Amino acid sequence: MTSLAERWSLHPEQFWLYGRAPEQPVMFDEAMDAWHIYGHAEVLEALANPGAFSSETIRLIPMGADESYTEGDLLQTDPPDHRILRNLVSHAFTPKVVADLEPRIEALARDLLDAVAGEDEFDLMTALAYPLPVTVVTELLGIPAADRHLFEKWMTGMVEEMGDLSLADSAEDQEETFDAAMGHMRLMLDYLRDHAAECRKRPRDDLLGGLLAAELNGSRLTDNHIVNFAKMLLIAGYLSTTMMIGNTMLCLDHFPAEMARVRADRSLVPGLVEESLRYLSPVAATYRATAAEVEIGGRLLQPGKMALVWFGAANWDERVFADPMRFDPGRTPNPQMGFGRGIHFCLGAPLARMEGRIALNALFDRFPELRLDPGKPPAFMQAPDTTGVTALPVRTTAD
Ligand code: HEM
Repeated sequence: MTSLAERWSLHPEQFWLYGRAPEQPVMFDEAMDAWHIYGHAEVLEALANPGAFSSETIRLIPMGADESYTEGDLLQTDPPDHRILRNLVSHAFTPKVVADLEPRIEALARDLLDAVAGEDEFDLMTALAYPLPVTVVTELLGIPAADRHLFEKWMTGMVEEMGDLSLADSAEDQEETFDAAMGHMRLMLDYLRDHAAECRKRPRDDLLGGLLAAELNGSRLTDNHIVNFAKMLLIAGYLSTTMMIGNTMLCLDHFPAEMARVRADRSLVPGLVEESLRYLSPVAATYRATAAEVEIGGRLLQPGKMALVWFGAANWDERVFADPMRFDPGRTPNPQMGFGRGIHFCLGAPLARMEGRIALNALFDRFPELRLDPGKPPAFMQAPDTTGVTALPVRTTAD
């Protein structure tokens, strides 16, 4: 049987999807002047050592290590500030808060699918996978509904530009791509800056209101902290969830017997979400900057190098996942790393899992038949460190 990767020509840099194991769990890439960490154990080890593997990667990017872009962004912050900042926001993601969001997210999914009820074909991304998560994140941030489409435009624009960015490019080429992506980013940051100022003028009892009242190292957080936090939440919480919904449909279409199995036993839906995150990890890699000499996977890494930490490869490591090419929603245990690990473990994981569960159940309930449109192939995101589609035409009728 043709693999899913071969069928859709998935990014060759994600070679494990084609059934090839990495030559070594940790490898140096001359062209990129960066390390790749592929093994499950080695990824865990790197993420457990933030002292040697720093999240402040901005300092290695030639365009400039400007703190104003990163302060308030958990994903670019190391301990001890990371812990303080994470404590400030984690109350907004507790199981109770997330459970309270369930009826709202169910209603959103229902309304979105109402709009395509009765259609023989539609684009799953436009109908559900983009609007559902962007609504959830912008509502968390208190952004007015009328402005949501702006975020969809800015975020997808940024992803498209960054898809062309390669560490192997010259500094000038990198700068050009970065500038194009920053064009969208700047518009988004300007909006968020006005939004933060507005929240400060009219204090509110929500996530940003709480942050504006909080302190970091004895000082109030600045508007810039708030802007970067909001930017991070949009980047971390929106498109990754969009990708997860699309990727799950890709997998179900490729493994119809598993689609039938899950439809017949909905208790498998949470396992389906886990297996989808393992099989096609939306965040295929994250980045760390080595901050000390460190040995990992039998290799000695010098400080000041970029390390690509491949969740996607770790999720196909045969030492942990028997027959990784098999898509099995019943896989137990499934220590997939699609949400990362360690101190930066996805803060929104319970929310994302719930969004996935609700979206998939809503699709199964609404459409007894659902498959990819044989005449209209999906469009894939280009960046090698993400796995996802931008368009996914589906049909709701049997052959
Ligand atoms: C399926 C959807 C999602 C996936 C695959 C995903 C994946 C990830 C991964 C891999 C990380 C760790 C990155 C690293 O270590 O460098 C992360 C961090 C994070 N995620 Fe998610 N995420 C998802 C949904 C969400 C949602 C819905 C939210 C919130 C609305 C969210 C908020 C965050 C935050 C705030 C962090 C940073 C945590 C920290 O640095 O301490 N994510 N996510």
